[in-house]
Amino acid sequence: MKNVVLIGFMGTGKTSTGRLLASRLGRPFIDTDQKIETENNMTISEMFTVHGEQYFRQKEKEMIAKVSRYTCTVIATGGGVVLIPENISRLKSNGVIIALTASLDVILERTARRNTRPLLDRPDREAIVSKMLNERSELYHTANLSIDTSERSPQQVSDMIIAFLREGGHLRGRC
Ligand code: S3P
Repeated sequence: MKNVVLIGFMGTGKTSTGRLLASRLGRPFIDTDQKIETENNMTISEMFTVHGEQYFRQKEKEMIAKVSRYTCTVIATGGGVVLIPENISRLKSNGVIIALTASLDVILERTARRNTRPLLDRPDREAIVSKMLNERSELYHTANLSIDTSERSPQQVSDMIIAFLREGGHLRGRC
């Protein structure tokens, strides 16, 4: 079975939905940000501060190349994974891509809770989220399925993903 890959802007629920989806499907779950943190022994915020964004993007690209070789795995990616087209072609070669979206207000509310996202750790958070959403929303459209999570729980979102996977025959095949 192919991987199931969640893409989408920060705060759209990739990690919480991915974890639940993996447990419901009985598949392993990987969050690429968490794996980058573990393998480099530092948080993403520390990596941005010490080495800068480009260094993180390179680590992210290497991680995508690695996890694209897996099978049967639910993979939650970082919001900026779409910035490098090669990341998406790699993930697509072996995965079904699901884009999660949410409204600006919901993203602002969800991302205000934790302070772990260096790109949003600034006073003009609303303006920057709005700008980044405009720049990136087109890039998330490359997915096989897109789900607005603004008013849906991870349980409801994972119900929709499982129905889509079943209809497309993506749950057949051995793992
Ligand atoms: C980023 C999103 C973050 C993380 C990093 C950069 C982005 O992941 O990869 O802070 O560029 O959108 P989440 O989408 O899981 O918050």
